[in-house]
Amino acid sequence: MRTLVFAIIIGFFVGCSGPDKTTTLSPRDAFIDSLLSEMTIEEKIGQMSQSTGSWETTGPIIADSSTLDLVRTGRLGSFLNVFGAERTRKAQEIAVNGSRLGIPLIFGYDMIHGYATTFPIPLAEAASWDLELIKKSAAITALEASAAGLHWNFAPMVDIARDPRWGRIMEGAGEDPWWGSQVAIARVRGYQGNDLKSLSTIAATAKHFAGYGAAEGGRDYNTTEISEHTLRDVYLVPFQAAAKAGVAAFMNGFNDLNGTPATANKFLVRQILKKEWDWKGLVVSDWASVQELTDHGFAATDSEAAGLALEAGCDMEMVSKTYDEYLIDLVQQHPEYLPMIDDATLRILGVKYDLGLFEDPFRYSDLQREKQIVRNNDHFKHAREIAKRSIVLLENRNRTLPLDPNLRKIAVIGPLAEDRETALGTWSAQGQQSDVTPLLQGIQLAVGEKTKVLYAAGSEINSTDKSGFNKARALAKQSDAIIAVVGEHALMSGEALSRSDIGLPGVQLDLLKMLKETGKPVIVVLMNGRPIAEPWMYENCDAVLETWLLGVQSGPAIADVIFGSYNPAGKLPVTIPRSVGQIPIYYNHKNTGRAADPADRYTSKYIDEAFVPQYPFGYGLSYTTFEYGELTLDKPAFHRGDSLSVSVVLTNSGSVAGEEVVQLYVRDLFGSVTRPVLELKNFEKVLLNAGESHLVKFKIKAEDLSFWDKNMAFRSETGQFKVFVGSNSATQLQQEFELLD
Ligand code: NOJ
Repeated sequence: MRTLVFAIIIGFFVGCSGPDKTTTLSPRDAFIDSLLSEMTIEEKIGQMSQSTGSWETTGPIIADSSTLDLVRTGRLGSFLNVFGAERTRKAQEIAVNGSRLGIPLIFGYDMIHGYATTFPIPLAEAASWDLELIKKSAAITALEASAAGLHWNFAPMVDIARDPRWGRIMEGAGEDPWWGSQVAIARVRGYQGNDLKSLSTIAATAKHFAGYGAAEGGRDYNTTEISEHTLRDVYLVPFQAAAKAGVAAFMNGFNDLNGTPATANKFLVRQILKKEWDWKGLVVSDWASVQELTDHGFAATDSEAAGLALEAGCDMEMVSKTYDEYLIDLVQQHPEYLPMIDDATLRILGVKYDLGLFEDPFRYSDLQREKQIVRNNDHFKHAREIAKRSIVLLENRNRTLPLDPNLRKIAVIGPLAEDRETALGTWSAQGQQSDVTPLLQGIQLAVGEKTKVLYAAGSEINSTDKSGFNKARALAKQSDAIIAVVGEHALMSGEALSRSDIGLPGVQLDLLKMLKETGKPVIVVLMNGRPIAEPWMYENCDAVLETWLLGVQSGPAIADVIFGSYNPAGKLPVTIPRSVGQIPIYYNHKNTGRAADPADRYTSKYIDEAFVPQYPFGYGLSYTTFEYGELTLDKPAFHRGDSLSVSVVLTNSGSVAGEEVVQLYVRDLFGSVTRPVLELKNFEKVLLNAGESHLVKFKIKAEDLSFWDKNMAFRSETGQFKVFVGSNSATQLQQEFELLD
């Protein structure tokens, strides 16, 4: 019945042509305005409330009966954690056929790296420097999710992370604002496509607004203190990029930002997001983060928390119920809340409209489509493609890799060789361990018939027990090469999974040392959700592959790299420190008045640790070598409005084809606010055959040099700059130029 009412409303607005107010509105805005005018205040607050689905011993159910009653009475507009064509259809039927206005529900879920086909964790994908493939992972996620009745993804997480102790570093694109923005745009476009109405797209969420990644001590949920300059120059950059790319939703952070929790932070949400950026989507709180305003000591009561979150521009409350319980009473004392409630409701209805839910609320809940699309073979093919491209070759002494697939015997040692759960990683949504091909199996499939693959776990991931060492040693000694599969368990990174020691857990380092003593080449396959600080491993093992957590095709993808059917080209999207004591460590730091100088005691460094990291941002090796020619500028200076051409000849000087990620950095030598020693501004991924050369060209414009100046204006300042080009952020290839007015 309600669908009929909506059809009439749509028909009316499409058909009307008089010079009244409605003609100046788009059909979309006219429709949602008209719907708003029919709604009671309770129904509006209902749209602003989101509940989670529930679980019973037999598995997920929609929700308990009292929650479903809220849907019937128009007091609930959204669910998270309700998925599957059947369950979403049932819930939708209650909303559409059982409530007074029949406004459809919107179903959200965390699909951080896939719905059922699990791709590499986001940090890993960011190491691929392949925006098209990153976009494709997001598009497949949307395709599968939309077939399972879902409308809305709580991804991408675009938080900048400069502290690898923080477990959620695995969910983002690393430490760099520029690269983070490119990845954010690719993911938003992948999830949302060009049209949210399309059956294969879903709404995306940029989260967690903002500064959440700067949690003190790397401890999840912890306080953040970020100056406005750093906030705008670093932490907000990927969020603004996502907003510009049309992301449908934002999610508040859990963090206290400079004394005001993000969920109640008017400056962030009302001032920057909704006013300065003029962004029109919906803001959802994080899980109970409205109610937690009382725990922050920012609101004295739940009622006050509801008011503060509303004032700050939080449109939908996730899980806690303070809007539902208190907003009605609050508007009696605060009539100024009424237009805020209207605005929030319009934003939520707008997203539902954009998804096409008013035309057909059941369009995404299609059992047939769900069966055909979810876990489709092509999705697994893509999972392998992006997984192998996400691998970073950190060390390759004496060209240990690639291995000959026809070796006599290979020992696969380590607690992660067969671990399917870790290959999936946290936030694996509907990913199933039975879909994972772990590394041991990947290797067995890749080697020739005559090669024997011997396997021993050696130790557990995180225990003091060395009783497995003897077997591992015996197998290692009889083999031609050792593949040591070590790292972190899936549940050592992700939400609420911060670590104070980011080395290899348990006795895994001892296991590596024991293997090294056998004299056989030790190839370390590192599996981890964050950078691992373990200098001995990097400095002594024959080869080290950073493989992160690569998803369902982890095994075949790593085997592709080990045996050379794919030449690795990944580059670190995050600095790998030598020790926890170096944290926070990131390439785009300030120079200080006393930049580190080993020869001068009174400079900024440690007496017991190097000041340089283990591996810099952007670093990664290949099975071939690349040579950079001279860096050439087309002029020594350029005016605003003009641009500078920067070029370099890149040559594959090795003996196999390979890809290189050529990176361009700039340094503003003097500013009205001090500038970082380097800032990434561009890159090109180039595939070259052995011996082949390619002219890589970049353009720099004045806008690329902009920052938030001392008057908090976003602009570039004239003066001297340096440009650097190379294979990572430690490159020395540079030239100087000047920006003129
Ligand atoms: C809490 C997490 O911080 C957030 O990222 C996630 O989307 C919500 N829980 C919902 O699961």
